[in-house]
Amino acid sequence: MDGVKLDYTMFDENIAANGGPGDWLGVNPFDPNYRVNPYPGINALREADPVNLTPVNTWRINRFDDIQTVLRSAKTSQTLANGLSPGFDPLDKRGSFLEFVLNKDGEEHARLRQMIVRSLNMKTVRAMEGSVIETVDEVMKKALADGGLDIIKDLAMVVPSRMVCAIMGIPEEDREMFDRLTALRTNGFFGRFLPLEVQQQLRQAGIDIADYFEKLVAKRRKSLGDDLVSQLIISADQDGIIPDEQLAVQAIGVIVAGFETTIGLIGNGCRALIEHPDQLALFREDTSRVNAVIDEGLRYDAPIHFIWRVLTEPLQLGEKLLPKDAVLWLHMASGNHDPLRFDDPEKFNIQRERNTNVSFGGGAHFCLGNQLARMEARHSFTQLAERTKNLKINPGEIVWSPSFFRVMGNYPVTFS
Ligand code: HEM
Repeated sequence: MDGVKLDYTMFDENIAANGGPGDWLGVNPFDPNYRVNPYPGINALREADPVNLTPVNTWRINRFDDIQTVLRSAKTSQTLANGLSPGFDPLDKRGSFLEFVLNKDGEEHARLRQMIVRSLNMKTVRAMEGSVIETVDEVMKKALADGGLDIIKDLAMVVPSRMVCAIMGIPEEDREMFDRLTALRTNGFFGRFLPLEVQQQLRQAGIDIADYFEKLVAKRRKSLGDDLVSQLIISADQDGIIPDEQLAVQAIGVIVAGFETTIGLIGNGCRALIEHPDQLALFREDTSRVNAVIDEGLRYDAPIHFIWRVLTEPLQLGEKLLPKDAVLWLHMASGNHDPLRFDDPEKFNIQRERNTNVSFGGGAHFCLGNQLARMEARHSFTQLAERTKNLKINPGEIVWSPSFFRVMGNYPVTFS
């Protein structure tokens, strides 16, 4: 993530260029201050305007039930009627996520999803669990010797980075390059709205990562292994021919989908525990509660604040009739704090009942890596709780990651 700097103030120029009649109502996700504590603003927005038209002509859907309605039953597409994405930079062509499973609808989506599921499933989770435990153990041993660690740089980044590279069969010496390219590619989901300078970095990263993966696919074709790229090739060949570039994009997409998001889950979850010592104490009393901690962490501070859909038919939500072709931003961070769904939603409460939240999405595109992410978080949270005492945040400002997801860039803590 180092070396990537976004200047979101330039986003104002994009707003002017888009010129929509909408209003951020004080909650502009491109404002750097938004990251510090967005929830009071988000709560006020949900109350004031549950279905809110933004200045970039997207509709923010803020209520939990409305988000579920869109995910489960509305007629939607991932792309605009012209085939382009509502969020991607149209010049970001090579290695573009347009070909990724997430951006496909209907039968094509089902076929690609099925192909990926054959290679990314509970078997993968079981196969990776031992090395995740080892990675967390290694991190904790060093941290105990040092009397502290940076939760993000030393733990939350290392676990998914090593795991995703292991799954793909990417050698250790290429991992740092991947961390950098992956962090840059994460910006692709909303690249259309980003400053020109970032768009250029994004396009270059797309070229570099596509070059690497297309070569990797060609290499694996000659000698299949038990990595995910080989599995994808086998799976794709069962389904008929998929061009190697499209195959490479699925692998790239899986890496990007599984990296920054998991940093968010581990980082935001650890932070919530550390900043709520009563809940950390409850967790320490009985670490078999870890799945409840994960669910509450995902709800309380979701790694992805919103995802998009395009309406292919008009949709009535509350008092508003949204037209066909409207671009929706499903505001999961808001849905997860909706008091109509969750009691006392501002409280981080690991004993919460009825905690099904929307952080992994829902419906046809429900996250394919959720079990993998949960497994990584399970070991990270448990070892942190069991092996440390007197966890304290090192004074200093949190620097937020420049990506559009809700991920801290650092979170140094000390302990005994
Ligand atoms: C805490 C970590 C994660 C979060 C919060 C998360 C969140 C999400 C969300 C919200 C979606 C749905 C997007 C939409 O409907 O528009 C999604 C889809 C997806 N995720 Fe995850 N994800 C996480 C980890 C992972 C991991 C570890 C992987 C793989 C290694 C992964 C792979 C995918 C894939 C392939 C899709 C597309 C599924 C489809 O389009 O059918 N995710 N994720």
